Order: sequence, then C-alpha cells, then structure tokens
Amino acid sequence: MNSTVLAVRELTKKIGRHSIVNEVSFEIRRGEIVGLVGPNGAGKTTIIRMIAGLIAFTSGDIEINGYCIKKDMERALASVGGIIETPQFYNHMTGYQNLQLHARIYPDASIDIGQTLKRLELEEAMFKKVSSYSLGMRQRLGLAQALLHKPGLLLLDEPTNGLDPDGIHDLRHLLKDMRSSGTSILISSHHLTELDLICDRILVIRKGALCGDHFLQELRSVTAKDGYLLEVDEAEQAVRAVAEFDPALRPQHKERGVLEIRMERERIPDLLGHLHNRGIAVYQIKKETTSIESYYTLLAGQKESVGESARGDVS
Ligand SMILES: Nc1ncnc2c1ncn2[C@@H]1O[C@H](COP(=O)(O)OP(=O)(O)OP(=O)(O)O)[C@@H](O)[C@H]1O
Ligand SMILES: [Mg+2]
Repeated sequence: MNSTVLAVRELTKKIGRHSIVNEVSFEIRRGEIVGLVGPNGAGKTTIIRMIAGLIAFTSGDIEINGYCIKKDMERALASVGGIIETPQFYNHMTGYQNLQLHARIYPDASIDIGQTLKRLELEEAMFKKVSSYSLGMRQRLGLAQALLHKPGLLLLDEPTNGLDPDGIHDLRHLLKDMRSSGTSILISSHHLTELDLICDRILVIRKGALCGDHFLQELRSVTAKDGYLLEVDEAEQAVRAVAEFDPALRPQHKERGVLEIRMERERIPDLLGHLHNRGIAVYQIKKETTSIESYYTLLAGQKESVGESARGDVS
C-alpha cells in the first residue's frame, strides 16, 4: 500500500516575475508530523495555501491521497483540514452554529460537532457568540473546524498563535493523538522548541526554496553530537579568542554571552586553557540538546548556498 498522503513536486509560485516559492518538492507519509520552518516571508504560508487549494500555483504539482489537485481538486481536498493564519468566523453566531455551517461542506462525512468542541475544551463556550471569544478560544474553534470531518491531512499554519501554555500543551497532545490514528500533519511555526517536541521531520524554507529536509531522530544524533554552548563574560572577545585557537570553529554568538561551538569533545580542555590564557572567564559549558534549533542555526550559516543544492546536507 502506498503510504504517501501528500506529494509536492517542483512547486513554484510566481507573482509577476518574482518567484516567491521556487521548485519545492517533498512528500508526507501517513501518520507523519512534519514541521515547516523558516524566517518571516520565506514562503511557508504560501506553500500551505497552495496545498489547501486556496491559491493557484504557477508550475509543479500537488497530489493528495493520489489525487492531483489541478485535475481533481474536490477529491484531493476531501480529506484535508486546516487552519491557515487567523481563522475567520461569523461573530454574531455561536461557535456551534459556525461549525454547523462549516459541516455543510462535507455532506458525506460523519461529523459530531459537540464531541469535536469538547475535545478542544470549548464545551462551555460552544453556545456563546463568537464575538465574546478570546483570541485563544477562536484559535481552538479554528482547530475544531479543521478537525470536524476527521481529515487524513491536517495543515496548520502557526496554530499556537494566541494559545496560552495550557492550550499549547493540549494542542501537542491532540496532534500526537491524531498521529496515532494515522493523520498526517504539516505544521508551520516559529516555536522551534515546540516543534522539537511533536515533529517527526522538519522542512526548512528560505527565500522560497527548500533548503533542509530531515528526520528529527537523525538530527538529534548529528547536531547534538558536536555542539556545545559556552557561557562567557566577554562574548565578542571570546569569539576572537576562539577564532585565534582555530578559525574553522566559527563560533556563533547567541544571546546573553552564550557562544555555540561545534567541535570534538577531546578539544574542550585545550580550548578552555586558551580562553583562560586570554583572560576570558568561562562559567558554564554544556552540550546542545535542541536539535531543530541547532539544525536551523547551522543552515542559517549556509544561507548563501540556499537554492543551489543545500537539501539535506547537514551531516
Ligand atoms: N499576494 C501576494 N502578493 C505579493 N507578494 C506576496 C503575496 N503573498 C505573499 N507574498 C510574498 O511572498 C513571500 C512569502 O510570504 P509568506 O506569507 O508565504 O511567508 P511566510 O514564510 O509565511 O512568513 P511568516 O513567517 O512571516 O508568516 C513574502 O515575501 C511575501 O511578501
Ligand atoms: Mg506565514
């Protein structure tokens, strides 16, 4: 059985002569949670909107459950649900009524509005007008709408926007639950640590091009292997001293006097000795653990080569 739920092939979107998405290709298998990351304006929302059939693309192809979105849009989108940017609702209607209206799009699906709203902790609010909902409640209602017809592919563009810590925690569990029942999820977010907790795979987009596609399990062993964080008193001075020790180390200056250095463990004592001789105090050294963040930083260092052949070249 073919387990590919979504196949995106050389997807390109041009506006005028400017390509905002350029030959992006990837696949998502059944039950996979895939994170889409990249700087503001990289093209994440545009990619998700094209997959959701909300905007046309210039060239390439999108196939969902074997149906080509261009030739057979209705069948391709029948099993897709999503929230893309801020979900829009009728304010003068209740949450329940909004979902009743939405349910009409799926006459063949078995839908339980009350149960879906309960799952999103909107039991108490479901008969109140949406105008009285907070931002987080609207976001939950958006998720309920996305899940209503039990989609096989869920598209989530920054779904944690406006959610409180409880909401983020609940969303994480909800998505993991959905994965175990076979739903595939494409989720864009700027919260790398959050993605680290839920994703199986990560796609990195820069300037409209795919520049990284990796399984997190693989990344954890690659990025955490040689990455160390050093807390120092004089960060700028420390960067110069590390470069003097070995220019190839190229330390990254992170926040609050923290340097990120990739090197073999065996070299740590020599480096610390060198920093000490230069009068730089090191207060702490620890191994990196957040794999997506270190992967992202690593790719950021290679951004000049984006769009050439940087796909999957982390190791
Ligand atoms: N309708 C449009 N007309 C012109 N340019 C557009 C249009 N929609 C998007 N763009 C441009 O396409 C690029 C990608 O935008 P997109 O919204 O996909 O980025 P993003 O990765 O989702 O960013 P963010 O992290 O800020 O949400 C941006 O440079 C944006 O200005
Ligand atoms: Mg966006």
